[in-house]
Parts: sequence; C-alpha cells; structure tokens
Amino acid sequence: MRFNTIIEPFRIKSVEPIRQTTPEERRDALKAAHNNVFLLHSRDVLIDLLTDSGTGAMSVYQWSGMMKGDESYAGARSFDAFEKSVRDITGFGHVIPTHQGRAAEHILFHALVAKGDIVPNNTHFDTTRANVEDVGGVPLDLPIAEGREAQSTNPFKGNMDIAALERTLEKYGDRVPLVMVTVTNNSEGGQPVSLTNIREVSAVCKRFGVPFFIDACRFAENAWLIKSREAQFGHRTPRSIAQEMFSLADGCTMSAKKDGMANIGGFLAMNNGSLAAKCRTRLVLTEGFPTYGGLAGYDLEAIAVGLNEALDEDYLRYRIRSIEYLGEKLLDAGVPIVTPTGGHAIYLDAKQMLPHIPQSEYPAWALSLVLYIEGGIRAAEIGSVMFGRKPDGTERAAPLELVRLAFPRRVYTQSHVDYVAEVVCHVNGIASRVRGVRIVEAPAVLRHFTARMTPAHGQLVMPAGFGLGAMT
Ligand SMILES: Cc1ncc(COP(=O)(O)O)c(C=O)c1O
Repeated sequence: MRFNTIIEPFRIKSVEPIRQTTPEERRDALKAAHNNVFLLHSRDVLIDLLTDSGTGAMSVYQWSGMMKGDESYAGARSFDAFEKSVRDITGFGHVIPTHQGRAAEHILFHALVAKGDIVPNNTHFDTTRANVEDVGGVPLDLPIAEGREAQSTNPFKGNMDIAALERTLEKYGDRVPLVMVTVTNNSEGGQPVSLTNIREVSAVCKRFGVPFFIDACRFAENAWLIKSREAQFGHRTPRSIAQEMFSLADGCTMSAKKDGMANIGGFLAMNNGSLAAKCRTRLVLTEGFPTYGGLAGYDLEAIAVGLNEALDEDYLRYRIRSIEYLGEKLLDAGVPIVTPTGGHAIYLDAKQMLPHIPQSEYPAWALSLVLYIEGGIRAAEIGSVMFGRKPDGTERAAPLELVRLAFPRRVYTQSHVDYVAEVVCHVNGIASRVRGVRIVEAPAVLRHFTARMTPAHGQLVMPAGFGLGAMT
C-alpha cells in the first residue's frame, strides 16, 4: 500500500449529535445515578464505551436491506437471505435464528446439557456460564495460564489449555456433552484464539467423540487477528480463515449484536439434524417460528448483510487498528493496560493505576467514575463489584481490577479516539488523588448493573495538592 494512514473506511451520511457537559453537570448526573454509570442517561454521556454489543452503526446496505424485510410469519424471503449468509460463512446445515446470543445458548444447553454435566470453554462469558448453570451443568474455564496475566506478549492469550482439556475429557468424558471455545475470548480481555489452537481443540474433541461448538460473537475480529498474528495464515482472507474455524466445529452460538453488525439478533447453527430438531422444538416455545426465531424480517436482512461486512478487510484493518492505536497512545504515556491489545476493547489496569486503593474499595469502579466526571466517557468496571460476591454471599476480591473501554462498531472516529486517550492520560495524571468507593445497596446477583455506591472517603477525587501522603 502506498500510504500508511489507516482511515475509517466509510463516510458519514447521518449523524447523531452528542452533548458536551461540564464536570459539574456530570457530578450531578453521577450523584443522581448513585455513582453507577449503568444508571446514567445516555444523553449525559459524551463517548459511550460501555459495550460493543448492539451499539454499532449500520451501513446503507443494511438499511436498504431492511426495507426489503419480509414480515411473513413463515417461510419469509428474509430468512432465506439470512440462512444463506450464515451457511456461506459457517458451512453449518441447520440455521436457527434467535433474538440474541443468550437465547441461542439457552436453547442449545437445554437440548444438550444434563444436571451434573461439565462444559469446558476457554472462558465462559457471563451469560454462557449462567445458562450452563441454569440447566444444572458445571461451567469449566480452561484458559492458558497467560490468559490471566494482565501484561504479556503472547499474541493468542485467548487460547484454550489443550493439556487441561485432555485431562478433563479423560477424567469426565461421559459427563462432557460439548466443548466450547469463545472467539475472541471476551472475558479474558477480548484476546484472540489461534487457528492452531482451534485445530487442536477440534482434534481432541474428535478423539473423545465430544461435540465442539464455537461461541462466535467476534468471529471476524478473531479471523483478522489470526491473519495478522499467526504468520502461516497471513496470506489468507478473513473469510477463508473464518470458514476454516467453523469447519473445525460441529456448531456455533452467535450474538449478531457484535460481528453480525446489527443492533439485535443472534443464531444457533449446527450440522447434527436431530439436535437441530430438538433445538427448534424449544425455539418455538421460547422464541418463535423457526424462520424468524424472535426477530423481525428486517432484522434478518440486516444480519444477512452485516455478517459479510464484518469480514471486509478494510473494515477489519480499521477496526483492529483503532484499538491498537489507542493502546499505543496509552502505553507511550505510561498508562497500564492489558497487553497485547485485543479485538474490541482496551482494558485499563486499575490495580496498577491506583495501587493505593485496596480492592475492598473497588479501584476499577472508582476509575470508571472518574473517567466519566473528567471526560464524559462511560466505561465498564470488570473487577470486584462485578465478580467479588460469591454465591454463598461472601466477598472475594476479583483476580484483576479492569476498566473496559469497548468500542461500538463504525461509530467513533480517530478524533474521538484521540480525545479518549487524552482523558485517560489526564486521569492517570491525577490517579494519586482518586479515592475508593463502597457499596450502599446492591442486589445479590449481577449487582454491578444496579448497585448504589458512594465515595468511601467523602470525595472521589481529592483536591490538587493532596498526594498519597495525605490519605486518611
Ligand atoms: C462472548 C459472548 N458470548 C455471548 C454473549 C451474549 O450475547 P447477547 O448479549 O446477544 O445475549 C456475549 C455478549 O456480550 C459475548 O460477549
């Protein structure tokens, strides 16, 4: 290529204004939201990095596809378009639409998993874990050891530990109804899984006769990271890499809110006809008729187009580069982040940035609040508020205290990313003045969504001049 600048591979035809607010206004908004960014109104947020799920911008081709949506109850033309796109990419014969990813998980586990069964995964995403547990199964995470290290140079920290998988299948083979691999590995920092690792998992599953399913939410980002980091596959297209990933599996679950480039939707796809029939029976009970499965015809059209757009090389180059670009800016400024950067987000390491705040005072949560007050940025805590409460009600600090800056697809430009870098660097500069928080009130499960929090020491950010020595 002649020029080095990687540009946003789109031009903007429709804009949604975002509102500048003052730090005072944001302090008030946060107070009204009980110091929980989930409880903020989106109109009070300048740059919303809470999640990359369902928050992307659709293309003109998706919008025009939606106009063709066939809303027939059964046998809709839109289902045919959707099924064709899913089959072309995954190769799976049976395609079952669902309203989002967790519905696909719910249906699959109801069909396959019995009480006491063990489901290995590189790392279960929250909803996957909850759906395994819902049917009495035991979710078992088998990431490689480096997957749990915040800083590493391993390019495939999302990989599954193959030796641990073999040991699990040797010990519990008849109690393992399926093995899953999540691409990219969202719960371990959006880290990719190598094609070599997927081939190995597939071979082990074949040897033990256990079905292998891919949690495919970010399959296109994973394919791009394979292309750019796994030397022997550099010459392949993301589509051919994705096709090979799926060809190694027996089926997949998918949230089309990620690499389906849609605002809602998902699917379950597989080769086994009798399993598919069982899944469709539950689909009719919980989602809808098999040719719409909880989606409007126009949603099916948007996904049919979006799945192919997600594999476009210009798009993927820009997408992954914008995450990497932010990562480089932060590392250059000495901001501690999870490395290497992954597919959809930057993870700030709050334990390192705020070493003076004990985990009992939730440093990552405090950091997420300061990012909002200082720069209007909304990000998600992935730390001890999210994971600290155990099912028996006891509290145990999470292994990592992270703040995730997840980027919606095709929504923000490089100047937005520059702004985010500036705000994060500023917050890093005042880190010694930031204080922890405590929980005022929280539900027993998934408490981060609705918890009410308050500064543990009266103020969240101490005035200038207050160094570490002034801590009480
Ligand atoms: C890896 C992974 N699996 C499953 C899901 C669930 O998808 P959904 O939110 O569409 O139910 C998500 C959503 O964030 C995810 O990241």
